[in-house]
Amino acid sequence: MATDRGRSAMDPPTGIGRTAIFMAYVRLLESRRPDRLFDDSLAEAFTDAVGFGDTAAAASPSEPAREEGTQTAWLETIDQLAIRTRFFDDYLLDAVLGGIRQVVIVAAGLDTRAYRLPWPERVRLFELDLPEVLDFKEKALAGRNAIPSCDRTAVPVDLTADWPATLAATDFAPATPTAWLAEGIFPYLSEAENDALLDGIGRLSPPGSRLAAEHLASHMLHSSSARWARDGLASLGLTWKSAVDDPEAWMGHHGWHSRSHLGSDPQSGYGRRLPSESADAPRGWLIRAWRD
Ligand SMILES: C[S@@+](CC[C@H](N)C(=O)[O-])C[C@H]1O[C@@H](n2cnc3c(N)ncnc32)[C@H](O)[C@@H]1O
Repeated sequence: MATDRGRSAMDPPTGIGRTAIFMAYVRLLESRRPDRLFDDSLAEAFTDAVGFGDTAAAASPSEPAREEGTQTAWLETIDQLAIRTRFFDDYLLDAVLGGIRQVVIVAAGLDTRAYRLPWPERVRLFELDLPEVLDFKEKALAGRNAIPSCDRTAVPVDLTADWPATLAATDFAPATPTAWLAEGIFPYLSEAENDALLDGIGRLSPPGSRLAAEHLASHMLHSSSARWARDGLASLGLTWKSAVDDPEAWMGHHGWHSRSHLGSDPQSGYGRRLPSESADAPRGWLIRAWRD
């Protein structure tokens, strides 16, 4: 069905929103593995909605790049993203086990944790993302018998604008300890935008709140091993805009205690293939932070 803007009812997200489809595609691949680290059965709703072949083409390195030998980097990246997903699943379940009942997923994209995680009763979960991404998500999930296992609220926002005001207009409770998740967003914003985003999160985080996030290590912005990923983004008109080399200092500056490690840490790799030990290997930080 055509809309008055000429987009069809199931037009996929454009621009930065396309990265959300890439992530759904990765979760689909992981969910099909017999040794999967999680099961995202709804990921297929999104890849189906855009046409699987299109998604695969958008998500994988170009054929010339594959010929140049980046297949290994691609497979390592898939594993890294699966590890990251499971790491944040565990973080959120640990937070609710610890008594937190309010969760905010920043830049939620096509994340289906509201549906697939075994939430205890009375969990309220807010998903923040661009309006067109959340709109696509609703439409793609319609008819899929997708029932949240928590009290889910989608909050369309621009995270570089006054999103706290929009969140405040919902039944979000600012004085209640909250578990925040910022996955797959910091690399796409500038340092100044990330600091503003963290300031906004901080103002809404009383003692007892937690935050988990992911960010790139700075060599990813120029290393040869990550060139295929940067080229893939560039083909979509996108670029990584920032990275961090001391995430704990950064978090401390924003009033959080934290622990961080590289996604390639064997201790938390869930038994998956890890990138080579070369300094150039693709790496991202997994960060857990808290306020007491
Ligand atoms: C790489 S995806 C990650 C999505 C999800 N967290 C996941 O891991 O599957 C990046 C997400 O950030 C969202 N995003 C980027 N810039 C944004 C902005 N200024 N305001 C709101 N959302 C934004 C995109 O729409 C997209 O859904």
